[in-house]
Amino acid sequence: MIRVRRGIEAVPAYGVGRLGSAEDPANQGFVQLISNESPFAPLPSVSDAISRAAAGANRYPDFDGVVLRARLAEVHGVEAEQIVLGCGSIEVCHQAAAIAAGPGSEVLHAWPTFPEYTTVAALSGARVRRVPLTQGRHDVDAMADAVSEQTRIVFVCNPNNPTGTALTEAEVAHLLDKIPSTCLVVVDEAYAEFADAPEFGSALNLLGAHENLLVLRTFSKAYGLAGLRVGYGITSAEVASLLRLAKIPFSVGSVALAAAIASLDAGDELAARIASVKAERHRVATRLTGRGWKIPPSQANFLWIAADEDRAAAAVRRCAESKVLVRRFPDGVRITVGAEEENTRLLDALGSPDGLPPTGVAAASLAGR
Ligand SMILES: Cc1ncc(COP(=O)(O)O)c(C=O)c1O
Repeated sequence: MIRVRRGIEAVPAYGVGRLGSAEDPANQGFVQLISNESPFAPLPSVSDAISRAAAGANRYPDFDGVVLRARLAEVHGVEAEQIVLGCGSIEVCHQAAAIAAGPGSEVLHAWPTFPEYTTVAALSGARVRRVPLTQGRHDVDAMADAVSEQTRIVFVCNPNNPTGTALTEAEVAHLLDKIPSTCLVVVDEAYAEFADAPEFGSALNLLGAHENLLVLRTFSKAYGLAGLRVGYGITSAEVASLLRLAKIPFSVGSVALAAAIASLDAGDELAARIASVKAERHRVATRLTGRGWKIPPSQANFLWIAADEDRAAAAVRRCAESKVLVRRFPDGVRITVGAEEENTRLLDALGSPDGLPPTGVAAASLAGR
């Protein structure tokens, strides 16, 4: 056996949320409401850009993603040098850990939240400190109070995965004001396009006042490009130049770059898709709360059902029996909002909290999916 870094065995593995190959006959007919993806295939204009870029795939992609970064700078009203790209926004989380965390340091985030923050921190060798949500929301004062001399990164997921709850701009500003400027604050806005003011406020407006702020966005969710892997961070030019040191060279491929640029050109069509997901979110939430499920108002493309372990397990099992995959957590179930017919299958499968059968072996075996 090879010798490995101390603590590496304790790093939590990524909780893969989907079935294996879609070509496998055993995986046919499943509705995947488990990974917060878009239910829609790429738009025709984006598919065309993908085909054109694929034809030149014998060449390496643009190293710096110059064109995409220039377009993003225009969209967000910042300088291109403030933007870093990644193979999904998750790569930018790893870049952040590589430049700021490490053995002897601490990384702080809420709980429950996107579990990958723990993995990213643990891989760097940092200690992880989790601050419980209060009534399903980030407790910004408790998080700021938990920052110590050793804290190098604070991750804030807004809107939060898995609860769908959001922070206002004033709450994010308050948190940033209380955290020392030597500590990197990463505000992950993977689901921002599905959120509305005033419940949600983007940290983008606060970039000018905080050099230590890094805002993450992705093309994986609202833009429907999860399979291509492209995300980005916006921060101060100083932090961006450090993050670029930790970027995996050519990690965003030419097809991903072309698809992201074409998506930015298709704003109206994407806005219509986002609106349809939000309408479905309302329909599903209304139906489920009417049946007695407890669901906080969601600012994302998923719903959180708070439920004890047995009910959560039974709900996941009941859905799986109807070939509907949803994500189980110890204290609830997260359901991605899909296309109308997918959501109707979910509604038919799930039933009401009181109608659920007791937990069994089948539920336990489905928990890791
Ligand atoms: C909060 C959050 N951030 C980041 C990601 C990963 O995004 P990407 O595909 O851009 O790496 C996810 C994926 O589910 C997420 O829920």
